Amino acid sequence: MNILIIGSGGREHTLAWKISQSSRVKKIYCAPGNGGISQVAQCVPIEATDIPALINFAREKKIAFTVVGPEAPLAAGIVDEFGKENLKIFGPTKVAAELETSKVFAKKMMRKYGIPTGEGEIFARPQEAIAYIREKGPPLVVKADGLAAGKGVIVCRTVEEAEEAVNLIMVKKAFGEAGNLVIVEEYLQGEEASFIALTNGDTIVPLIPSQDHKPIYDGDKGPNTGGMGAYAPARLVSPEMTAEVMEKIFVPTVKGMKEEGRKFQGILYAGLMLTSDGPKVLEFNVRLGDPETQAILPLLESDLIELLESCLTEDLSQVTLQWNPGTAVCVVITSGGYPGKYQTGKEIYGLEELAEEEDVIVFHAGTTLEGGKVVTAGGRVLGVTGRGSDIREAIEKTYQAVKKISFQDMYYRKDIGAKAL
Ligand code: AMP
Ligand code: GLY
Repeated sequence: MNILIIGSGGREHTLAWKISQSSRVKKIYCAPGNGGISQVAQCVPIEATDIPALINFAREKKIAFTVVGPEAPLAAGIVDEFGKENLKIFGPTKVAAELETSKVFAKKMMRKYGIPTGEGEIFARPQEAIAYIREKGPPLVVKADGLAAGKGVIVCRTVEEAEEAVNLIMVKKAFGEAGNLVIVEEYLQGEEASFIALTNGDTIVPLIPSQDHKPIYDGDKGPNTGGMGAYAPARLVSPEMTAEVMEKIFVPTVKGMKEEGRKFQGILYAGLMLTSDGPKVLEFNVRLGDPETQAILPLLESDLIELLESCLTEDLSQVTLQWNPGTAVCVVITSGGYPGKYQTGKEIYGLEELAEEEDVIVFHAGTTLEGGKVVTAGGRVLGVTGRGSDIREAIEKTYQAVKKISFQDMYYRKDIGAKAL
């Protein structure tokens, strides 16, 4: 069968790498892809949100199954549009994707269905948000309702910071319409974990839990990024906790979405804070995490395409996944300056040597090919994943590999996975 993957980051390279191992797959296309994806798939220059062009392409190339990486095409209704054309695709419809695209919708769902989350209020007027902030006092978290490229959540240590955040989002409209509504939420303390599951809208199959590292500097300091590294399975998460997360969070969410007439079929990701009061939802995403995917899929031994296809046709309660019993660590290498301004077009050295290593995989995020050379083309450039029998070995293999890579002004965190030691 022919497969189409949509997206161009490290997550999509991981999907292409994993799917290319399926004996059922003949050819993989990726729109638009990147320099590394072109090693395992044919990249086609169609933007991830150009739905009419993607539909034409899928028809023309007889694509049997389309896998969507990022949220933007899902938010734009790609699943609805492919469905109208009888093209098989895996993901939530536009109204189901609101779990990610509207934090206000997600908050209301959680309240209505008793899903544990931080206490918070929704505001349409900045003065009312500010009055609430003064009443509650810091620390607080101010969140823009809509998609804001990962920048719409501001953790505030003082009343002034929180007022400034409301101003930025609602008055200055830093994220446009995404800031028409805000949520002011209590600050939750604990360790974060990413839970990702597949669902057909009725039954749910959890993947192994993972942990992301969002801030740019070691020790979780500095501004948040898209994610500087991840490891799986997450420390601190026992089988009992996974069962609790399924029972208290995933089951009522999936059931609630069905009751709301927004049956959720696809990948459901809950970003959780593991508080002393139990796990609480910080956010939902309706897609795989990036870079969590780069740590999770290298441990999955089951056939991914078979699994995704069964989500469209079968009762998932019978599906069991096979996992490598070890640990995987992914370290993200960025362009210097990221998440602020950075330069691109720097040649990357050391990749050929690493291609030979069995337990190390270099996933490309922001790269492109220029005259046979791999050069940087984004903020997050590469995700280097190492597998080991335990976290210590996985960290060691990963960092040994990272040290073999070089490009001008490259940067990476030195402590990915260290929390799990
Ligand atoms: P989100 O995009 O909602 O996951 O938020 C980005 C980051 O902000 C999370 O990964 C947390 O580190 C932090 N965050 C969000 N909500 C809260 C909260 N209620 N309490 C503490 N930290 C939070
Ligand atoms: N790594 C966080 C995310 O994918 O949203």
